[in-house]
Amino acid sequence: MFGNSTPVHSRQNGVHPDLERVIERHMTSVWRAPAHEPSQHAFLQWLTRVDVATRPLVLDSGCGTGASTRLLAERHPDSLVLGIDQSLSRLGSEAEEGVQIAEQAWLLRARAETVWSCLQMRNRRVANHYLLYPNPWPKPEHLRRRWHCHPAWPLLLGISETIEVRSNWSVYIDEMATALRLANRHVSLVADFRPDSVLTPFEAKYLASGHSLFQVKAKPG
Ligand SMILES: C[S@@+](CC[C@H](N)C(=O)[O-])C[C@H]1O[C@@H](n2cnc3c(N)ncnc32)[C@H](O)[C@@H]1O
Repeated sequence: MFGNSTPVHSRQNGVHPDLERVIERHMTSVWRAPAHEPSQHAFLQWLTRVDVATRPLVLDSGCGTGASTRLLAERHPDSLVLGIDQSLSRLGSEAEEGVQIAEQAWLLRARAETVWSCLQMRNRRVANHYLLYPNPWPKPEHLRRRWHCHPAWPLLLGISETIEVRSNWSVYIDEMATALRLANRHVSLVADFRPDSVLTPFEAKYLASGHSLFQVKAKPG
């Protein structure tokens, strides 16, 4: 039922002791995992349909239903806004090929890390990168699945100018802030974050359930 979502429970109550070691390893090695071919194909096809050269790019990675992508398009009227998610059941089947939801906004089914890699290979920058309520992976042994400790972290950093992350788990945001500071980003962190208006379905669900929300924003240092 809407409004009865349980808060994140974890055996981990603070920044993971292995955080800095894991990040250091990812920052000093090359991630050699092959690209996810369907995501690469979908993204390269989408690139042929839009003009990424003349407008700033806004990325909504893990956009879920794409509700936030629509709102971000209103917030960034001069930008090209792309919402990506790996789940077709959340996005709707049209997003398999890329679906236009506003004059300058699109949804695409793709794995985020493959899209980041494609952007990096083409020297494309993301002016504003949103990671809104990413899966928290709260088990301590799943640290490497959180974006800031994922092998794709250097890619995310390499393509992104402003980064904004929101979560209902304070530890995720504290870790993300630590990772962004290690990358010499200028970080602002808001605990007990109250959005002016709701941006995503998960945000709506967590607010209705009385959860505290947390936000970190980072700009190039
Ligand atoms: C907790 S939901 C949040 C969805 C949305 N941002 C919101 O706040 O309503 C996390 C989303 O991330 C997506 N996701 C997880 N890993 C992903 C990946 N590697 N690439 C693309 N999407 C991913 C999931 O499919 C899911 O829709």
